[in-house]
Amino acid sequence: MCPNIAVIGSGYLGTTHAVGMAELGFDVIALDVDPVRIARLRRGDPPFFEPNLRELLQRHLATGRLRFTTDTAEAAAFGDCFFLCVGTPQQADGLAADLEQLFAAVRELVPLLRHDALLVGKSTVPVGTAAALAELATLHAPAGIEVEVAWNPEFLREGCGVQDTLNPDRLVLGVSSAEAEQALRAIYARLLRAGVPLVVTDLASAELVKCAANAFLATKISFINLIAELSEAVHADVLAVAEALGYDNRIGQRSMHPGLGFGGGCLPKDLRALIAQLGGNASTELLRAVDEINLRCRSRTVEAAIKECGGSVRGRRIGVLGAAFKPFTDDVRDSPALDVSRQLHRAGADVQVYDPAANRAGKLAAPELSFTETVDEALRWADLVLHLTEWPEFRTLDPEAVWWLVNEPRFLDGRNALNADHWRSAGWTFRALGRPVVSDAPGRLPDLPADALVPCTTPLV
Ligand code: UGA
Repeated sequence: MCPNIAVIGSGYLGTTHAVGMAELGFDVIALDVDPVRIARLRRGDPPFFEPNLRELLQRHLATGRLRFTTDTAEAAAFGDCFFLCVGTPQQADGLAADLEQLFAAVRELVPLLRHDALLVGKSTVPVGTAAALAELATLHAPAGIEVEVAWNPEFLREGCGVQDTLNPDRLVLGVSSAEAEQALRAIYARLLRAGVPLVVTDLASAELVKCAANAFLATKISFINLIAELSEAVHADVLAVAEALGYDNRIGQRSMHPGLGFGGGCLPKDLRALIAQLGGNASTELLRAVDEINLRCRSRTVEAAIKECGGSVRGRRIGVLGAAFKPFTDDVRDSPALDVSRQLHRAGADVQVYDPAANRAGKLAAPELSFTETVDEALRWADLVLHLTEWPEFRTLDPEAVWWLVNEPRFLDGRNALNADHWRSAGWTFRALGRPVVSDAPGRLPDLPADALVPCTTPLV
């Protein structure tokens, strides 16, 4: 029998998962407490920017396989399998993850169940959360109703979320019974038939895989950014170093692109949550250093901007290209671009920010900054231009054409994604993090990982 799917939480993860499940052929209901968000989703209008999501959402509202609700009782009555996709942000007063949304969701949902159910966690959580939720579920289950908890961490990247949901690198199923394994194998049968690797394990291991994966990715990025710091000190070119390192299959090119470092709603907070989970263990130094190096990328960028402006940015106009934490998203959570912009604003600069998708979110998060409608407006009269999110439209800027807009043709590439020679030969002073300051630096385009700058385009299964 084809199970009905309920997705609890219609944020970025939940909506993408709900749409993905509908695309795999299931009848899906997605729940959220936010009526405004649900109203938009019902109209086929996702509250966040994600390539392909709008099209699939509209397709499955039309097929009738996907619907949205704010009514927990409706979701409880409909679902057989409940994917828990609520947020687990960093606690306001500590490094650990705040699990309240997850526990609240289970406390509210389980008493309303009318038949046996499988709760499947997808959120990133510290080890032990699934077991605690299982106890909570047992406590709150109506008489005669069996509730089991499984864990199926998600590995989707923003900007490629639909693609990563339908063509994941791997599936991880943390289960405590053969029945739960069978149910999840059936739900993912189409992906498994397509050859997606599967790891079936216990709850704790499944929880740990996700935290460890994000901490490892963060470590790779901070490692190459540490080498970028050294490259600057010894006049080496970090792009050449990264490229050569990446040809070693054991190291690889991906998550090895040097620059302003990582941000977003996942890597920083998952790294810190793992540090919190390790507690008093001496082994947290590695992860703490990863976090520190990452934050230093931001302060190094601010210092470089101040230096480029002759020792102070007070009263100087700075055009900033990018606000999102990475391209192909409008997410500005813990965005390095926004952080650097704010620091420069606090130092007295007149900061003009432009982002192709994240202006709105940027304005809400940083109302003290000015946002412009076009690249040209951000650049007009600038004493310095900063490139902080590597959108393709910034890569294709014509340095000769925009030379006329600025007050001083000075460019700082915080993402190492633009061609230094190209800009220098158009008369710009061009500097990039981790690359030689002198103008004889090789100006070839960096070899970014294939998926670094293009939205996912491979066919959906
Ligand atoms: C990350 C993981 O990559 C996903 O596997 C995981 O599922 C997701 O978190 C999650 O926990 O939900 P995401 O935050 O979307 O995905 O972004 P990434 O593509 O990993 O990039 C994170 C940050 O690192 C961005 O700010 C990006 O600009 C930066 N980055 C990435 C670099 O500075 N250098 C790189 O080489 C790669």
